[in-house]
Amino acid sequence: MKIQVVATARQLSAVPTENKTVVVIDVLRATSVITTALMNGASAVWPVSSAEEAGRLAEKFAPGWAFRCGEREGRKIPGFDLGNSPLEFTKDVVAGKNIILTTTNGTVAIQQSHAASRLYIVSFLNLSFAAMKLAEFQDELLIACSGTNDLFSMDDALCAGMLIDTISQFQPLQVDDLGLTLQSFARQPGSLFQKLRNCYHLNYLLSIGYREDVDYCLQTDLFKVLPVLQNKTYLSL
Ligand code: MLT
Repeated sequence: MKIQVVATARQLSAVPTENKTVVVIDVLRATSVITTALMNGASAVWPVSSAEEAGRLAEKFAPGWAFRCGEREGRKIPGFDLGNSPLEFTKDVVAGKNIILTTTNGTVAIQQSHAASRLYIVSFLNLSFAAMKLAEFQDELLIACSGTNDLFSMDDALCAGMLIDTISQFQPLQVDDLGLTLQSFARQPGSLFQKLRNCYHLNYLLSIGYREDVDYCLQTDLFKVLPVLQNKTYLSL
């Protein structure tokens, strides 16, 4: 399998995704949120690009069946039902509901990949299961790290490196230079926290009070699921 890695959502707009399997990673926090919401019984997660688009889509559902969710600068969008904290997406809140999600980078990366033949969602929460499933495919894999505000972000990079390293246990890989660099980063000794201690976005989330989110998102293999984009519009399990 050939693996190419893209460092940010913005760079993804310049990379052809046709006929590729694309994996979107936004550990802090969009892909952790999507996986958690679906695990907790949300019917679907609808990635959209703006608060206005979220509002328009919500109106298409019966009252109470769709929640507008997301962040700007990490904080809940004013007037929205939920922010982008995975801990808000509990069973009690989201079971059976449609989650309409707009975030600064993660949902942008998903939308940039609309031409992909398949699109999957990965975070530390579902890393090993995702690697096992992705290793079943033979076509080219494009790993899209969402990044932060158009910049490279270590949390996504580490997750991508670990994903590549785990897939390599199942089949021989031809990995691009960025992927090889991330794979060797992933192989360095130390906990996820130790490796990410200087990560800008992690420290930003800590500075605005999201310690519990960070702790939650840095757990590996909590879930054996691989969220997938259906009909190029919504994510489900
Ligand atoms: C994003 O998509 O930019 C994020 O998930 C940011 C965040 O809420 O941590």
